[in-house]
Amino acid sequence: MARETWATRLGFILAAVGSAVGLGNIWRFPWQTAENGGSAFLVVYLGIVLLVGVPGLLGEFVIGRRANKSPVGALRELSGQRSWGFIGMFSVITGISLLSFYSVVGGWIIRYLLESGVSLVGSDPAYFTNPGQYFGGVSAGADAALYHLLFLGLTALIVFAGIRKGIELGTKIMMPAVLVLLGGLAAWAATQPNAAAGYAFFLRFDPSVISENFFAILGPAAGQALFTLSLGAGTMITYASYLGEDRSLPFDGSAIAVLNTSVGVITGLVVFPLLFSQGINPTETGTGPGALFVGLAGAFSQLPAGTLIATAFFAVVTLAALSSSISMLEIPVAFLVDEYDVSRKRAVAGMAGLVAVTGTVCAFEPSIFGFVAGTLVNILLTAGLAAFLLFVGWVMGRDAIEELASGAGALGRSLSTPWLFAVGIVLPLFLVFTLLTHFGVDGS
Ligand code: PFF
Ligand code: NA
Repeated sequence: MARETWATRLGFILAAVGSAVGLGNIWRFPWQTAENGGSAFLVVYLGIVLLVGVPGLLGEFVIGRRANKSPVGALRELSGQRSWGFIGMFSVITGISLLSFYSVVGGWIIRYLLESGVSLVGSDPAYFTNPGQYFGGVSAGADAALYHLLFLGLTALIVFAGIRKGIELGTKIMMPAVLVLLGGLAAWAATQPNAAAGYAFFLRFDPSVISENFFAILGPAAGQALFTLSLGAGTMITYASYLGEDRSLPFDGSAIAVLNTSVGVITGLVVFPLLFSQGINPTETGTGPGALFVGLAGAFSQLPAGTLIATAFFAVVTLAALSSSISMLEIPVAFLVDEYDVSRKRAVAGMAGLVAVTGTVCAFEPSIFGFVAGTLVNILLTAGLAAFLLFVGWVMGRDAIEELASGAGALGRSLSTPWLFAVGIVLPLFLVFTLLTHFGVDGS
């Protein structure tokens, strides 16, 4: 059977934006920002998105579109060496690790969505009464495992339907819905009393925080930048492998980064005014995985029409999470389809079956969940992207320049030589440096 391709020009962008926009923007970003000095973190993170994220994205695109294969086959074929295929295998492990914890968080979100939706008619959702205690009760154990399976099942259904009828169609529906709902929520949040304090907390820029904490901020900011752009896992290699030669990679890559960053910022413009309007200070409610649920649930419970707002909010998060989780599952699925000629349906069944087990372990064991979601994923993504970029710079070389230039305008072509220097030398050095700060600072 011929390998599938994206049906439309917009299809690839929306699928890649769908992968990028997710729990990383909505669940991880506001709290990383709060935990690491507010707007100082934002500035360092934006700098890394621009200087490392966009060129890195183009590196993954070039590999995928050149080879029309998922990472394992792409690295092996383009290099002519089995050992590079072996390095590509890490992307399969990364995809499974990512989905194992992400699906648990997705499960929490679906639970809150259902809980809110049902309460639109009838009494307040159960989590309104004591948000902290409620979250503590449902975030780990059999409940969490069950909802994880529900979220994973939805993910598998979409990937099951294939590139065009599953991932492309799904993200074409989900992404516009996310943007419209989120924009509406931000406009509504602006009308809340004391919203200005929320904006001030989020956006006030204090240069001294950067100069004093630069090295402490760097590691988390880099990790967040890779995570939010879906870099280092091979998802972007895989998605670009379904792409024709006529697209401008520099244009698509910039559009994806801009859209993803905008969603992060707009989410901040929803979350922080809402919290401050209810007198909830994010630095006091604490951080960590539960903060979004506990802090926002508290705010929703006090708001007029809080159940409606909560339903809209958790709907946004569910759609954003699903459009990312499908890109995680597609990594190991494409591997099986490309390398072993397994049918897509069997590949999805097999891999979803595996993640059903690994995710259940994460759902029952908060310490394992924390390790996978934090340290392990940071290390796998950072090392993965470094390996991909070294491949582009030192194995593909001139071919990479040619591939980047194909379909790109004059500006894109003129940037391709400095780009190759950056991805071959400067960015790997930077990534290895941040990897070392993980081992030094983050011993969790
Ligand atoms: N970019 C996604 C988010 O921000 O939620 C997470 C992600 C998806 C990371 C796919 C890595 C990946 F391969
Ligand atoms: Na993201």
